[in-house]
Amino acid sequence: MKVIDSIREYRGLLGSIARPSGLVPTMGFLHEGHRNIVQEARLGNASVTATIFVNPRQFSPAEDFEEYPRDPEADIELLDSEGVDFVFMPSVEEIYPDGFGTTINVGAVAAPLEGKYRPGHFQGVATVVCKLFCICRPDRAYFGQKDIQQCAVVNRLNIDLNLGIEVVVVPTVRDDDGLAISSRNVYLSSSEREAALFISRSLFHVLEMWRSGEKNSNRLKSHTKSMLELSPLLSIDYVSIADPQSMKEVKSATAGSVVAIAARIGKTRLIDNITLE
Ligand code: PAF
Repeated sequence: MKVIDSIREYRGLLGSIARPSGLVPTMGFLHEGHRNIVQEARLGNASVTATIFVNPRQFSPAEDFEEYPRDPEADIELLDSEGVDFVFMPSVEEIYPDGFGTTINVGAVAAPLEGKYRPGHFQGVATVVCKLFCICRPDRAYFGQKDIQQCAVVNRLNIDLNLGIEVVVVPTVRDDDGLAISSRNVYLSSSEREAALFISRSLFHVLEMWRSGEKNSNRLKSHTKSMLELSPLLSIDYVSIADPQSMKEVKSATAGSVVAIAARIGKTRLIDNITLE
């Protein structure tokens, strides 16, 4: 496995990279969810590149950019053990040199939900993902379903700019008790982690309600909220039932609609979602 930190060096390798090539963009501090994504990329491609870059432009000044957990040595070990070919690990200056001025705004899909609670976040995501696509020129790129709106944003970007990359969404990996695995779970105390379980439990519950015949989105959402409100530690940002491509709310929850939750527990903000199927 080759670890590369310069765009020029990666570019120099492009002609010799085996195709199809898969790209797994990450912000590091890799966990089992990332491992699963890397394995999926490894299965379907002749070469795999993982990127590790904590992107300052997707954090607002009030968010945790400085404190965001980092462990590059462990990340490199995990990627090596999964047979990744290249790790692209640029510095902030390499990605955003002096004079950098372009930002990408993908429009309506980025406006609700995370877009409302984290203004500017998806501009930062779309800009860096577009740059990574331009630098690494993959045939396929892999993203976790846990960030479902991010997947919709990347899809929009890929279609609108004719990037021609196959965007693959990989299912969320959960701990045995159902908690979606996330780099930010390390911030949770044990009582906060207990509270966080209300999120996945309410998603599984709403799936069961839907399977039992309840399709009215408002009723499903209000039931989900009441379940979340049972935890005094948890404060809800949103409960949404939306179309996973447009991220528009749906009135009637049909197969393929996504139930998404964002909630704050102490200083930690968690997101999770489930597809109704
Ligand atoms: O999901 C992430 O880790 C990041 O948002 C991404 C896609 C690597 C862009 O910085």
